[in-house]
Amino acid sequence: MKESTKDVRRRAARIVEQALESLHRSGVTHVKKLPLPPPAIPTAAVTAENPSRSTPMPRSQGKKVLPSLTQIAQLEQSTDPRCRELGNVAREVSDCTRCAELARTRTQTVFGAGNPSARLVFCGEAPGADEDRLGEPFVGRAGQLLTDIIVKGMKMRREDVYILNILRCRPPGNRTPSPVEAAACREYLDRQLAIIQPEFICCLGACAAQNLLQTDAAIGRLRSKMHDFNGVKVVCTYHPAYLLRNPAAKKQVWEDIQMLLAEMGMK
Ligand code: URA
Repeated sequence: MKESTKDVRRRAARIVEQALESLHRSGVTHVKKLPLPPPAIPTAAVTAENPSRSTPMPRSQGKKVLPSLTQIAQLEQSTDPRCRELGNVAREVSDCTRCAELARTRTQTVFGAGNPSARLVFCGEAPGADEDRLGEPFVGRAGQLLTDIIVKGMKMRREDVYILNILRCRPPGNRTPSPVEAAACREYLDRQLAIIQPEFICCLGACAAQNLLQTDAAIGRLRSKMHDFNGVKVVCTYHPAYLLRNPAAKKQVWEDIQMLLAEMGMK
């Protein structure tokens, strides 16, 4: 079906709005947000009952639509084939019940966020409380530190990279994912990576590094060298949450990031 001019304008406005949101989240506050027309793609504050929208809305029972469902709708409606493919996987993930406990206790699934054609993917462990609430990876305190690493350390933007986790559901009490849970979620990770086709993966912490590379070596041994994962160059470093508890380890993370930047030809 051909998109009307109005819908194209709304979609363009939404893209600008998201870029501004992203800038604000990255700490850029001197760019003013503009009043924009209502988005054609549903936002978290929009309910499915709103009749003024022309695009299909995620289903709800009069409650606010979960942010993850809004993201899925946006991916599905994208003109970029990689976004649509990611949307298909994300839709499947949103109904996943492979891990009974996680499916029962999560608010929503946390699929991944960022550039669907990113050269670099960051892989963390699992969503925490903030991510479970907002439906996006690394949006809490550890996420702010990761944003600083990307923006201040790497001179990149958060939206240039793609961010995902070993698990797509929050483990209760933020416990470490079990090997069974990591194995159950592995198919989704592999499918996301197959769509994005990154050149580089940066594993954040032991859980990400050990699960991606299928090793039980300690993170202290895995860091500071390049690894290979099916032709993708992998760097492992300490998790930002570890850095919040042990700021002295920032020096090693800085070295790992410098090595990554050199490999990426950005140094
Ligand atoms: N820690 C992680 O490993 N992933 C997140 O998404 C947030 C915190």
